[in-house]
Amino acid sequence: MAAPRIFVTRAIPEASLARLARELPDARIEGGTEDRVLSHAELRAGARGADALLCTLADRIDRELLESLTPQLRIVSTFAVGYENIDVVAARQLGVRVTHTPGVLTEATAEIAVALLLACARRVVEGDRLLREGGFVGWSPLAMRGHAVYGKTLGIVGAGRIGWRVARTLKRGFECDVLVHSRRAHPDWERELGARFVPLAELLERADFVSLHCPSSPETHHLIDAAALARMKPTAVLVNTSRGNVVDEAALVAALQSNQIAAAGLDVYEREPALAPGLARCENAVLLPHVGSATYEAREGMGRLAVDAIAAVLSGREPEHALA
Ligand code: DGY
Repeated sequence: MAAPRIFVTRAIPEASLARLARELPDARIEGGTEDRVLSHAELRAGARGADALLCTLADRIDRELLESLTPQLRIVSTFAVGYENIDVVAARQLGVRVTHTPGVLTEATAEIAVALLLACARRVVEGDRLLREGGFVGWSPLAMRGHAVYGKTLGIVGAGRIGWRVARTLKRGFECDVLVHSRRAHPDWERELGARFVPLAELLERADFVSLHCPSSPETHHLIDAAALARMKPTAVLVNTSRGNVVDEAALVAALQSNQIAAAGLDVYEREPALAPGLARCENAVLLPHVGSATYEAREGMGRLAVDAIAAVLSGREPEHALA
């Protein structure tokens, strides 16, 4: 039998590539060295004849690509928890397994959500900028006042693992009240955090901090649009570490420019890596380059799960975290 061919679409941590080689000593591993997004044509060419594809969230794995790669292709293993870039239905129909990497990046992403929330509330980045530009002329009773976090109301949209971590941190560390909006109720949120499940409109109207933790889907596309932003308090902060298209970014820029809300902390964007016009000039926005999972620990864990799924499928075993 020919050695299986694995195509890795982008540079991943060295330890993950080494694990792949260790787990599948007979496999031909290609790609995985260049740290850039491949064009669709390059992806197609590189993946041709592959038994396994290790991709990232920036690769569009659509039906057409999958059809061109089957029946040889057996698994698409994405180095991410989000998988809206993969046509999972088409993969299932074509008999291709799809796996992702949930769980291992929960804490890392929750840390970034909390960091953004605190940075926005207490104007951390603005203060840093002011100081470096020579604007610090000494302590003043009026300067750089922000909004307290302690004892405020946190609104979590999406009751998954990451939302839970953020809620628990703010509940235990800052004694915040927690409101949560999700498709279904989770008794542990009520029991352990005293959280209340409420409709989205109520959450937006009552929360001082709104943190988004829902996946990208047709239902969540522009969930936070101009009308939703208009419901928020003028002192409220919006944090998004989920997916960019959950927020109507143009509407958010307008809301920030007119101080309809106090601030926004974003790690994800509608058209990454591009930003909506005007966003970069909003002083009341803290903007990070999609680094929610960017800890050594999380990336190591993501690599481990992504590699192990490929090893499982190519050895005839059931992979963990299968979507198809
Ligand atoms: C994911 O895995 O979906 C994250 O967005 C990567 O940080």
